[in-house]
Amino acid sequence: MNARRTRAADPVVGADLTGQVAVVTGAGGGMGRVVVDELARAGAHVVAVARDAPRTERLLRETVGAHAGLEVVQADLSLRQGVVDAAAAIGRRHAQVHLLVNNAGAHFPDRRLTPDGVERHVAVDYLAGFGLTHLLQENLVAAAARVVHVASDTLNDTRQVKVVGRARPPRLDPAHLADLTLLNPADGFVAFEAYARAKLLTVTSGYHVARLLRPHGVTVNSVHPGIVATGIIDDVVPPALRPLGPLIRRALLTPRDGAAAALRLATDPALAGVTGRYYHRERVATTPDVSHDAAVQQRLHDVSARWFDR
Ligand SMILES: NC(=O)c1ccc[n+]([C@@H]2O[C@H](COP(=O)([O-])OP(=O)(O)OC[C@H]3O[C@@H](n4cnc5c(N)ncnc54)[C@H](OP(=O)(O)O)[C@@H]3O)[C@@H](O)[C@H]2O)c1
Repeated sequence: MNARRTRAADPVVGADLTGQVAVVTGAGGGMGRVVVDELARAGAHVVAVARDAPRTERLLRETVGAHAGLEVVQADLSLRQGVVDAAAAIGRRHAQVHLLVNNAGAHFPDRRLTPDGVERHVAVDYLAGFGLTHLLQENLVAAAARVVHVASDTLNDTRQVKVVGRARPPRLDPAHLADLTLLNPADGFVAFEAYARAKLLTVTSGYHVARLLRPHGVTVNSVHPGIVATGIIDDVVPPALRPLGPLIRRALLTPRDGAAAALRLATDPALAGVTGRYYHRERVATTPDVSHDAAVQQRLHDVSARWFDR
């Protein structure tokens, strides 16, 4: 594993973020907590978006301290209304949003729909990040912001054991872009592929939004953080390997090392103006051809924007 280990005492963020507003989703989770902590330590006012606001505030205050610029916005981002309400609450309080780290994500063992009728991976691993970026567009433009989507390299390869054979990216049927409720259908559903497809949607739409917002000085990039010992790993590990859980975790990156990749994209002065890229941790990486198809990007953007604009 090509991982740069960080020492807990060293700040990951080199820039001074005083006066900047940073929005972080999945703020109470493994990597999200570190992202909030490091951005607050660098002086940012952090808006932490989480499902359980009191618990998250308690957890975050333990590390960022009582006086750091921190507010917690409660939101279930699997719901369209949850995304809309969170964006409205943030937008009302902050005319400028300088950093948006769309970090919330989940892997589900089976296929279930949200009350809105979309498959859950589509909702959490794609629509949440798209929606916040879309609905906060004015606030992002006002700050010439950086947007970072935390994706996953499963979008390049859905094999969980990569010993033999070739990479197997998730398939994306352009016909399913007619309606968000068609994505990740029941027919042939495989949970890990559904997760990977939702991340592929995130990167595909990210390329498009990067082009749209480039003239306004807003950058949009996606990143695979590495394989990191967080809660999501317990959901992703195949059942046969679960007894080895503690051993597997020890071989993985720490949340702090994983978070460093998104933090770098969000704050490194050397990356100012860099947009429309996908990073495998610190290196620019390729994504499946379909993600670069301009017609696919446009259709995905149209159907997703309609979802939030109605
Ligand atoms: N760990 C890895 O190896 C790995 C690899 C590639 C990509 N990633 C991506 O990295 C990101 C961070 O994940 P993590 O590894 O830190 O895992 P994690 O500890 O499970 O954190 C995931 C976060 O997403 C939040 N979330 C899930 N569903 C949500 C919903 N409906 N509404 C609002 N928030 C929701 C969780 O909130 P709660 O605290 O309320 O559950 C949690 O804070 C995810 O996007 C994940 O897909 C992780």
